[in-house]
Amino acid sequence: MRKKLRLRNKFIPVNVPKIYKQEKLNVKNCLETSWISSEGKFVKEFEKSFSKYNSRKYGVAVSSGTAALEIAVKSLNLKKGDEVLIPCFSIISTALCVVKLGLKPILIDADIKTWNMNPDDVLKKISVKTKAIIITHIYGFPVDMKKILKVSKLKKIRIIEDAAEMIGQKYYKKKCGSFGDVSTFSFYANKHITTGEGGMILTNDRSIYLKSKSLRNLCFGSGINRFQHDDIGWNYRMTNLQAAVGCGQLKNISKIIKRKREIGKRYLKNLKNCKNIYIQPNKLNYAHNIFWVFGILLKKNSNVSRDTVIRKLLRNNVQTRNFFYPMNKQKIFMKMKIFDKKSNFPISNTLSKNGFYLPSGLGISNKEIDFVSHKLIEILEK
Ligand SMILES: Cc1ncc(COP(=O)(O)O)c(C=O)c1O
Repeated sequence: MRKKLRLRNKFIPVNVPKIYKQEKLNVKNCLETSWISSEGKFVKEFEKSFSKYNSRKYGVAVSSGTAALEIAVKSLNLKKGDEVLIPCFSIISTALCVVKLGLKPILIDADIKTWNMNPDDVLKKISVKTKAIIITHIYGFPVDMKKILKVSKLKKIRIIEDAAEMIGQKYYKKKCGSFGDVSTFSFYANKHITTGEGGMILTNDRSIYLKSKSLRNLCFGSGINRFQHDDIGWNYRMTNLQAAVGCGQLKNISKIIKRKREIGKRYLKNLKNCKNIYIQPNKLNYAHNIFWVFGILLKKNSNVSRDTVIRKLLRNNVQTRNFFYPMNKQKIFMKMKIFDKKSNFPISNTLSKNGFYLPSGLGISNKEIDFVSHKLIEILEK
């Protein structure tokens, strides 16, 4: 108890990344050789090792997970107005990559047990206009993809697997991010492996690979025609400095995954008698939670609101983050009248209103986890 009180003045951020020795050596190499742009050797090395880790043929390193999604969707050559099914409960990037390309996003409500897009709702919403589905895994537990993958194959619907939060996770025995036509990852500082900012596109399809590579680099021409461009691309390149960090991080991936699960298990144990909360499953037949973040969903009969809990934790120097905001309620999409005003996504609303996550980054100590758990219990039981 005295130990816990000593932590009171120490701020516990929602995420602290962990940087290992190899990253520092790699970055030093970039600086000393002046290879700092996207042309350096670490970019190719990172693409090769990350695609191999995920059992994919090709990797394209980019500047963020958001960039990866935009490129992945554009690489599929869909037509304006084609429908793309996306989760209602996700980061806005999942919708932006569809909206920006003139495609029509169709929202899928979440599943109350896993907080992921509900596979049955996906099947219900598939129509003749559906040309792609973005499968986004949320917070550490994968989407149960079996039925979606089966139907999409039958109906020739393209699959983009957004595995931003799922590096190292498996669906049955296969890595998340190795399913579908193309998959995307984020290496933001709170992800399992980080490059500060960054992302990757993985695919087994050579045409998607070549198109993605071109889109990331402004669709430059080749040779004498370098400055002639035949499509609208982006400068979404990853620098050698970022990839140098990524290469080092990837060497430690087993250690990282082990620690993420330890963090999750420690919270689970500490909070097991807490009656006012729901937590994502630890284990189902198809996956074992990797706890990218440790999410808390307050039950409806909880005597304190989510915002009060967040405020009180912050008063105790514990930073948390509230859950995603439902896509249909995003101000910009309402202004653009992207979604039907009358459509309702009750589970996404509940998650968004009552959910938040605890500090779960690799830099957190066991003592800090115990302090956060203790404070949370105190607040919920008062
Ligand atoms: C599921 C998911 N997809 C995409 C992204 C976007 O990644 P980035 O922040 O690297 O743009 C995030 C970011 O956290 C995410 O959680």
